Amino acid sequence: MKLARLLAASAAVLTFAQPADAALTAVPSGVEAAQGALRIRVTALTDSILRVRVARESSFGEDASWAVPAAVRRQSVPVSPTADGFRTKAVIVHLDPDKLRLSVSDLSGRIIVADGAEPISVDGKAFMLRKVLPFDQHIFGMGDKTALLDRRGYTFTDWNTDFFGFTPASDPIYKSIPFYIGTSNDGASYGLFLDNSWRATFDFGHRDSNAIEISAPDGPIDYYLIAGPSVADVTRRYTDLTGKAPLAPQWALGYQQSRWGYSSDAEVRAIGQHLRSDRVPADVVWMDIDYQDRNRPFTVNTKVFPDMKKLNADMAADGFHLVAITDLHVAYLPNQGYAPYDTGMAGNHFVHKADGSVYVAPVWPGASVFPDFTRASTRAWWGNLYKDFIVDGFSGFWNDMNEPAVFETPDGSKTMPVTNIHRIESDDFATRDATHSEIHNVFGMQNTRGTFEGMARLRPNVRPFVMTRASYAGGQRYAATWTGDNSSTWDHLRLCVEQMINLGLSGFSYNGCDVGGFVGGASPELLTRWYELAAFSPVFRNHAANDAPHAEPWVDGPEHLAIRRKFIEERYRLLPYFYGLAEHNSRTGDPIMRPTFYDYPDALKLGCDQALAFTVGRNLLVAAPPRPESPQPFKICLPAGGWYDYWTGAPVAEHEFKQQPKLDFVPVFVRAGTILPKQALVQSTMRTPSGPLQVEVYPGDDCRGELYFDDGIHVNGPSLRQAITCTTTPKGLALHFGRREGSWRPWWKEIAVTVRGAKPVQITIGDQPGAADLVIAQ
Ligand code: GLC
Repeated sequence: MKLARLLAASAAVLTFAQPADAALTAVPSGVEAAQGALRIRVTALTDSILRVRVARESSFGEDASWAVPAAVRRQSVPVSPTADGFRTKAVIVHLDPDKLRLSVSDLSGRIIVADGAEPISVDGKAFMLRKVLPFDQHIFGMGDKTALLDRRGYTFTDWNTDFFGFTPASDPIYKSIPFYIGTSNDGASYGLFLDNSWRATFDFGHRDSNAIEISAPDGPIDYYLIAGPSVADVTRRYTDLTGKAPLAPQWALGYQQSRWGYSSDAEVRAIGQHLRSDRVPADVVWMDIDYQDRNRPFTVNTKVFPDMKKLNADMAADGFHLVAITDLHVAYLPNQGYAPYDTGMAGNHFVHKADGSVYVAPVWPGASVFPDFTRASTRAWWGNLYKDFIVDGFSGFWNDMNEPAVFETPDGSKTMPVTNIHRIESDDFATRDATHSEIHNVFGMQNTRGTFEGMARLRPNVRPFVMTRASYAGGQRYAATWTGDNSSTWDHLRLCVEQMINLGLSGFSYNGCDVGGFVGGASPELLTRWYELAAFSPVFRNHAANDAPHAEPWVDGPEHLAIRRKFIEERYRLLPYFYGLAEHNSRTGDPIMRPTFYDYPDALKLGCDQALAFTVGRNLLVAAPPRPESPQPFKICLPAGGWYDYWTGAPVAEHEFKQQPKLDFVPVFVRAGTILPKQALVQSTMRTPSGPLQVEVYPGDDCRGELYFDDGIHVNGPSLRQAITCTTTPKGLALHFGRREGSWRPWWKEIAVTVRGAKPVQITIGDQPGAADLVIAQ
């Protein structure tokens, strides 16, 4: 306490009682120690988030970041000094000044994370950090890395890579999110985010089963330790650092139809009409590179797409939004009147080679140049390229190939040379040149930032929707993401679920995989299963390669169509719940799709294969057969607490039971204590549901739910929020509707309440006119 006060009064430097050659030095909100040429500084941004910086040659280097905004980095809390470090209100930091070994414990003294022997090794600019990997620790996060849900035992490299047809063993793939969560069987968790955009490597007990080794060839030794205790605490705090995903437009939670190869105005219309005539609810049709003139971004092949404005308008009238691909590479077309090239050259907006000339390399349009997205002015120029498409009425844009992908490279790297030069003129970075080695992993993220900010500028008050393939930590502020060019195999279906869960734990709540697989063509059963699971995932988009068989819902005949439609319909009935989760995510960082242990930490210890089990929010638990290709019965394990069968509404008696797989069925359970909002089926989110808002009550402990609605499109428009709780009294169930907040006018006139397993005896309503708008559908 005294120390904190002293520090507030002056920049006094105090030393702790240590041998003269190995001392701790107090710094504002933290502590420092030096050993040889190395200096380590540990500071508390909040009581539960520590920043650790290591200086190699006396200087910590510039304090700048693509992931953590300056205002967040500058946060601090008062700390209390201790003999070997300091404590906050949540953690105790121990720093051994001899070895520069750091450990963090909770207030009861239980170690949360500890350095291993040789905690920091430095070799020139390269470094390695070592942390202890306790025998019972699981590792999650790292974005959509392949392998398994639990990253323990694997090594991963962060280097954004266009990996057509990656396998569950391929690494690296498209994204680099240098963040992991370690959680032990007792539920104690921490997170570590290394804010270094270079080609970093994370080894989670692969080389040495007791160690986590984190290394990079260059760049800052700058990382954040995030205390839990729960995985949920860590995930939320990670998004406090790197930002929340803004609430997406509601249509982005609907079913989305895509394919590389929808090649004309007539074909796009036909896809929309087919969805409507087959009564498959859908909100979006995606337009891949085929709409462009010779694959040139920001052009239209007017022979086959004569009037984009009319196409958008007609599709909108039928309840569809269009999302258009706009790849980052700009066709290299000097003196041909191609505005993106001409204006880009005029503004010096393209990446240069080491010799100072503009870098030119082949991608979809042939010879292409690459915008220098680390310049704020380049991002602003890029954003303005969307002007005509915004006028045409496109609702969203798709930034693909932004690793960046390059088709032919002399070194086989499939990206630009690491010696290429980017200009950094952005945020609180010093204005300077940087090699591609430093920028590569943030290139895609800065591409989406330009797109997002351009959309927000060109169409103020409307929520931008951007889809990206490549990104870096914090990229969730600008774009949703998908897992790239997956394959039509059962392994990939499992991998997809694991990738989506880990993306959600890594800040990217809006994520999805190509339903059915991009490469190869799915069997009818695989495609049906994929639809069933994706119906409960955040971004529900069917997409396939131009040389793969068609994969729209109807392709395998009426029986498969009926099953697929049933699940898509269920998704639409659940939209009030999904949308509420999305809004909650935008405030808290809690993912929409979660590992079961997110809300039920004991699930880590359940004795079932949970490969295809996950929760949607806290209340729905999807437990698909972990080997859906097999006819063998499988075991379902439900976490402690009561559960109801989602499909029948009946309470579930047991927590472990066998289930026979059936192609048209996915077991889904509802937590006892859930109040679940649903709506009547619509064919598009642009249509108003008929009848009442449906509220299903599943009595149990901690019984609550929340309604959240707004117009689904605008930023900061009117909204409606209302809490609902239920309590079990000796007489029966009492249901309480809280005050309605906000001025959004609901589409319903009545709320139909269905209570599972009990009769309500009493209903109270906050500030509502009375029970008149409640219908008890018991
Ligand atoms: C890339 C994308 C894929 C897209 C294709 C053509 O392979 O990952 O989704 O269809 O390019 O644009």
